[in-house]
Amino acid sequence: MTRKFSSKSNKTLAILTFLLLGRETLIAAHNGTRSSVTLPPTVSFPSPFLLTLWINTEFACFTAKSWCLHLDRNRLTGSIPESFGAFQGNVPGLYLSHNQLSGKIPASLGNLDFGAIDFSRNKLEGDASILFGPNKTTQIVDLSRNLLEFDLSKVAFQSSLTSLDINHNKIYGSIPQRMTQLDLQFLNVSYNRLCGKIPVGGKLQSFDYSTYFHNRCLCGAPLESCKKA
Ligand SMILES: *[C@@H]1O[C@H](CO)[C@@H](O)[C@H](O)[C@H]1NC(C)=O
Ligand SMILES: *[C@@H]1O[C@H](CO)[C@@H](O)[C@H](O)[C@H]1NC(C)=O
Ligand SMILES: *[C@@H]1O[C@H](CO)[C@@H](O)[C@H](O)[C@H]1NC(C)=O
Repeated sequence: MTRKFSSKSNKTLAILTFLLLGRETLIAAHNGTRSSVTLPPTVSFPSPFLLTLWINTEFACFTAKSWCLHLDRNRLTGSIPESFGAFQGNVPGLYLSHNQLSGKIPASLGNLDFGAIDFSRNKLEGDASILFGPNKTTQIVDLSRNLLEFDLSKVAFQSSLTSLDINHNKIYGSIPQRMTQLDLQFLNVSYNRLCGKIPVGGKLQSFDYSTYFHNRCLCGAPLESCKKA
């Protein structure tokens, strides 16, 4: 079945407006019609179809007003294409979790305003601070279980952020005071290299120690109080 899809021309790919590649299903919508294929359990990704899609820069030139991209739980390798930053229109969500994506998050993604971002369980490295910013309206960000390495204290969080999961990375610096002003429903910064006092206020003390544990030297409630220097 994937072979059938792979024989389609790039022209078809360029007008895809919705794509969901689950473990067992492939749903693709193009030009207003949605087609769904249930993949036999023997099919494994990356299929030729998917690889063609992945490297096809035309893929990024969607003109639909609204679309969502679910590429999670596949076996995608390589890095996130720079061309993903050229998506047009409203972008409700970009879901790339549970793959084997490596390399840096392309700077072009910083131009977009996603509703939700899930890049968890990949091998992404470097900076992710471009995904945040005062003018963004992103509510949910899950970057957990990657190799990301950046200074958390320099991140300008948008006030819309309600859920942030960055556990298991190499993120350093301290938790910025700004985080006390966010209406967070969920937070997990555990298993990083953070240091310093957890700011007091907002929702930060409503989370238990497992939100903060296994960092270099975070201290203060709900962790142990900071030692006086
Ligand atoms: C898209 O759909 C419209 C209406 O069904 C049709 O007229 C048009 O030719 C289609 N375009 C392509 C590129 O298939
Ligand atoms: C946010 O928006 C304001 C007002 O439009 C603008 O002045 C500012 O430069 C923007 N900041 C960023 C980081 O884009
Ligand atoms: C945070 O993530 C760690 C690592 O996955 C987990 O052990 C812990 O229970 C999580 N805590 C919360 C509050 O989600």
